[in-house]
Amino acid sequence: MSHFGYGMMASDPHPMIAEAWDDLRRALVYFRGQPVGTIAALDSSDEKLNYDQVFVRNFVPSALAFLMNGEPEVVKNFLLKTIRLQGWGKKIDRFQLGEGVMPASFKVLLHDPVRNTETLMADFGETAIGRVAPVDSGFWWIILLRAYTKSTGDTSLADKPECQKGIHLILSLCLSEGFDTFPTLLCADGCSMIDRRMGVYGYPIEIQALFFMALRCAMLLLKHDGLGKELIERIVKRQHALSYHMRNYFWLDLNQLNDIYRYKTEEYSHTAVNKFNVMPDSLPDWVMDFMPLHGGYFIGNIGRSHMDFRWFCLGNCIAILSSLATQEQSSAIMDLICYPAIENHEWRIVTGCDPKNTRWSYHNGGSWPVLLWLVTAACIKTRRPQIARRAIELAETRLSKDGWPEYYDGKQGRYIGKQARKHQTWSVAGYLVAKMLLEDPSHLGMIAIKEDKLFKPVLRRSSSWTA
Ligand code: GLC
Repeated sequence: MSHFGYGMMASDPHPMIAEAWDDLRRALVYFRGQPVGTIAALDSSDEKLNYDQVFVRNFVPSALAFLMNGEPEVVKNFLLKTIRLQGWGKKIDRFQLGEGVMPASFKVLLHDPVRNTETLMADFGETAIGRVAPVDSGFWWIILLRAYTKSTGDTSLADKPECQKGIHLILSLCLSEGFDTFPTLLCADGCSMIDRRMGVYGYPIEIQALFFMALRCAMLLLKHDGLGKELIERIVKRQHALSYHMRNYFWLDLNQLNDIYRYKTEEYSHTAVNKFNVMPDSLPDWVMDFMPLHGGYFIGNIGRSHMDFRWFCLGNCIAILSSLATQEQSSAIMDLICYPAIENHEWRIVTGCDPKNTRWSYHNGGSWPVLLWLVTAACIKTRRPQIARRAIELAETRLSKDGWPEYYDGKQGRYIGKQARKHQTWSVAGYLVAKMLLEDPSHLGMIAIKEDKLFKPVLRRSSSWTA
């Protein structure tokens, strides 16, 4: 099957492409004879930990590669298998998790070697380090279902009662009313790609952007019947409130930074400018040096007296792809593509001395090849393909030679990650998806959504809006 559309005919495919497809196919996991996902890493070292499982988030780039290559079967099988797993009783010690919780990962077990029967075993967080349930899994599942539907034109999968029910359950968990006064989703540390303590508890950007994207995808997938209709109404309201909150309070640029620097504190009443009582003294030293004249980004987190100014790639790219970011904000994000790391005392406090997340390593400023597909997609949406081209060229000088590592360390990403697995499937798939997107930008349609005309950009509260 061809890997590319017409665009590729002119030049020879890069030799890494064939190698990547070989790796990706070797990573396929079969259940009762059918492919149902891809293993996290093909690393041959003994220390497998849980890298021999199919992770929901890790499968997404693999799924996109297969969809773009006209092979939707494995994606359909994956979506159906994982939604059945959702129905399992999920308990951590004596505590029952919400019905809508999706697994972080699953594996195929040879149940009875004599009769050769296989069963699936899922992990909802009860065996994960830190025992955290993955909030991102359900969102990725919805996003992938929409990608499948868009790319194949087959609406029958999404229309199946089990898929509709799956969407209802996932969203009911996130749309439920509670004590919170924010439309963002409150979550525990380690509940997404960053699956160990990194000081992202609260309202991490990764989850908020995925939440918004999943809401928009669900709107396109839900049937307008009784429960579906009711859910759609709730989604519209939440989406509205969420985009307002994110575009106003999570957004940081030079003007906004200057406003925060001059904030008064302890303000009371509706007229308060510093609504969440952020202390200007808590501005980290690096943030002003880091902020370009033109450019901006969605910060990592915001809560009461708490702003996490770290720049996270996944959340910002998804904000662009889902049109959570306005067009102006999207191009400002592309003007600034960088990432600060935390160190010394801050690293001790924030990560609890996590030896994997030392400065410029792993989730603390490490460089993840899987993000290549997200950056490429964001570049295409904002019409800056040259940035993606440069990133891919750089990746091509190292990825295959280094054995497709999970992540790189160091400020420039020049070390292979200290504990990085080799032949990490999402590094392989991320590269393939990036290549295919650049060759045929029409693929973007399956993972990007245009701005909803209903949600006109709101005016920022910044006093220097006209600057
Ligand atoms: C690590 C990563 C997580 C990923 C998993 C499997 O735990 O932090 O994001 O899903 O490995 O590759």
